[in-house]
Amino acid sequence: MSTNITWHAGLTRQERSDLRKQKGCTVWFTGLSASGKSTIAIALEQHLLHLGLATYRLDGDNVRFGLNKDLGFSPKDREENIRRIAEVAKLFADSTTIALTSFISPYAADRQLARDLHASTNNTDAPLPFIEVFIDIPVEEAEKRDPKGLYKKARAGEIKEFTGISAPYERPEKAEIHIHSEKTSVEEAVRIITQYLEEKGLLK
Ligand code: PPS
Repeated sequence: MSTNITWHAGLTRQERSDLRKQKGCTVWFTGLSASGKSTIAIALEQHLLHLGLATYRLDGDNVRFGLNKDLGFSPKDREENIRRIAEVAKLFADSTTIALTSFISPYAADRQLARDLHASTNNTDAPLPFIEVFIDIPVEEAEKRDPKGLYKKARAGEIKEFTGISAPYERPEKAEIHIHSEKTSVEEAVRIITQYLEEKGLLK
């Protein structure tokens, strides 16, 4: 942590929220590769935009082309990946945008850290809502889908530490929303998440 730094108070989130007529939050998708996280997050982003809401999606592969291009897939690198993404999502949420994140985020402790970061603000603003969405799929089904051929490569030993094959995925135990993706259409998943956000008063 740097020293000799001071937190600058400006507009409160409440003031931003009143002017933009929107509250911010983070919808945190987690699940195996090929579980459908990104597909559902993209459809949700489109739906929220059609409703006239400000939203922005951060996605695993894409963020690793830029902000996190120095990180690999060791437990330490994944932890740092999730920490940075959580901080970025928190900034979007604080700006009163609905941040959507789709990362495997396989470790429970890293997801907890993301949640804790949203709960602690450095000023007088309220904690930011954090909604964990578990996109659940049996690994056999994800492997059958294998849209990028990564499971095949992992089985052949060409990719090390591949989640679900040679690296763990710790299933969420208390996710706010649990979607079984092999039994739920993308439209239904979007409906379930939107309804949850509506009930929590996060769509206005
Ligand atoms: S993590 O665990 O949250 O840090 O991973 P994430 O940033 O979401 O990146 C996952 C995408 O990276 C590709 N990929 C791998 N995934 C898992 N394990 C290994 N070893 C690996 N190597 C590359 C893969 O395309 C993941 O994308 P999705 O969209 O999940 O399929």
